[in-house]
Amino acid sequence: MNAILKHITAVPQSVTPDERARAAGHTGAVIWMSGLSGSGKSTLAMALQRELFRRGMSAYVLDGDNIRSRLNADLGFSAEDRTENLRRVAEVARLFADAGTIVISAFISPSEADRSRAREIVGPAFHDVHISAHLATCEARDVKGLYAKARDGIVREFTGISAPWEPPQTPDLVVDTMGHSLDASLSVLLHYVLRAVEPQDVPALKSVGAR
Ligand SMILES: Nc1ncnc2c1ncn2[C@@H]1O[C@H](COP(=O)(O)OP(=O)(O)OP(=O)(O)O)[C@@H](O)[C@H]1O
Ligand SMILES: [Mg+2]
Repeated sequence: MNAILKHITAVPQSVTPDERARAAGHTGAVIWMSGLSGSGKSTLAMALQRELFRRGMSAYVLDGDNIRSRLNADLGFSAEDRTENLRRVAEVARLFADAGTIVISAFISPSEADRSRAREIVGPAFHDVHISAHLATCEARDVKGLYAKARDGIVREFTGISAPWEPPQTPDLVVDTMGHSLDASLSVLLHYVLRAVEPQDVPALKSVGAR
């Protein structure tokens, strides 16, 4: 424990996660999407968010590029900076999930160690979702032109080309985006998420006078 933490006392929240889930009709959660650049994380994250929002649910996307342009603008793509990037994201995601939101995070998250650390930070609300497409498919898509730049050495430390990619060994869900339409991939994801955020242990509220 560092010297400052010794003098810190956490203040308990005055609203419990169960109370929030009962009010919202769903629990908070962290849908942690990992996958190669171009595998479809941002596309699916935004489509999922829109679908949950349409159903009146609270959802929010934390996307790699957005977070890296502000909160984590001080970090690069070295192994250490990637670890710190994901540690901060996991802490932010934990807060959002505690507040009752379904967090959809879209970060490459290339290392098994960083993903399991994220799971440790978030706890049981964490869902490891692999957005899966072969490197060749992602490179052919080359949505942002980054694969071409990585091959030319203009972009360095690029996952799958010049930086390691460790596919999740035991993900909670694999969404295959090769040879499946966006709608088909979204439907697999949506089905999983709707089940994951069902309030399990929250007793149904009885109306007044009910026996
Ligand atoms: N089934 C599918 N699901 C999602 N995206 C698909 C699917 N099929 C094709 N695509 C296409 O794949 C591309 C995925 O790009 P996207 O920006 O979402 O990737 P990303 O994983 O967020 O990459 P990065 O890590 O660079 O941000 C999009 O052009 C999308 O239209
Ligand atoms: Mg993206």
